[in-house]
Amino acid sequence: MYRARIISTGYYLPERVVTNKELEKLVDTTDEWITTRTGIKERHIAAAGESSSDMGIRAARWALEKAHMKPEEIDALICATATPDHSFPATSCLIQKALKFTNAFAFDVSAACSGFLYALTVAETMLLADKAKTVLVVATEKLSSVTDWTDRSTCVLFGDGAGAAILKKENGERGILSTYLKSDGTLSDLLMVPAGGSRKPASEETIKNREHYLRMDGNEVFRMAVHKMIEAVEEAIKRAGIKTEDVKFFVPHQANLRIIDAIAKRLKIKPEQMFVNLYKTGNTSAASIAIAISEAEEQGLIKSGDIIVLVSFGAGFTWGGIALRW
Ligand code: ACO
Repeated sequence: MYRARIISTGYYLPERVVTNKELEKLVDTTDEWITTRTGIKERHIAAAGESSSDMGIRAARWALEKAHMKPEEIDALICATATPDHSFPATSCLIQKALKFTNAFAFDVSAACSGFLYALTVAETMLLADKAKTVLVVATEKLSSVTDWTDRSTCVLFGDGAGAAILKKENGERGILSTYLKSDGTLSDLLMVPAGGSRKPASEETIKNREHYLRMDGNEVFRMAVHKMIEAVEEAIKRAGIKTEDVKFFVPHQANLRIIDAIAKRLKIKPEQMFVNLYKTGNTSAASIAIAISEAEEQGLIKSGDIIVLVSFGAGFTWGGIALRW
């Protein structure tokens, strides 16, 4: 059976690390509060001139090197980001320019923290429909560019970074087994950047009101994230025709350890089967699962033939699950 398989991954985290202790100097918070409420200890923050495409380029370059591939072998490039370099051109086109993907068509996908799973699903669809032979998915975010560093309820949560995956169509058992995507736009107000788009273009007033920064109803997002990520895991497993016991590893969106623990408890998954790196990355939105699977592979935690389930939840709201045999 033909499947779309991830043949290589890469990731990049900016050099600068900001600890909870440093945030204590910025806002009225404590390392203890952040650690117990979220599990996050530190996060990587991009340099002032470093953009989402710059980070995506680093992750993509590593994935290409690991696959021993030349840029011209990529024929589609999908970038998942909620923090593009510009409204247009697409961030994927900037990555294409830098890495000379001369044979590729490139476009962006916007699904916030679910962006990587949405992009993987589009990649799988294009591969199985023979619209592309090799697809590069890059998920990259500079959340620090929309973070209000005076708002303690959000600024402690986020980080910057990028992950990349190269997919090919192959005949065999390995690859994507199932995908499940869902969204509910009626709840879009609960997590958004209010200004800077066409609804409310940036102006002196929007800047004064700090509306160009991310705003979130944390409690409601938390509740929905747990509920919908459980749904996404169950649906991805069902669609793959497997059982929870068949899954070696779960790679959840890295937003909050309490969200991950609640999902594990409800689905009776051993905590050690949940990949967690948020203590050092914070929430990197679309990039989070892309970074996590690449890191898990680097650490030898995922091996060829293992069944893994990726699960996400983000602004929109958007959520999804993907089961795959590595
Ligand atoms: N430091 C100290 N105190 C804080 C901080 C902080 N950084 N932030 C909020 N508080 C205070 C609040 O003001 C409140 O004080 P009060 O009781 O005097 O009013 C108190 O802590 C409790 O606030 P809650 O919001 O109820 O705290 P909660 O335990 O719910 O944790 C959090 C808040 C961490 C934001 C949680 O709701 C959460 O993780 N939500 C999910 C958000 C998320 O991950 N969003 C990312 C995008 S979507 C996604 O990726 C899933």
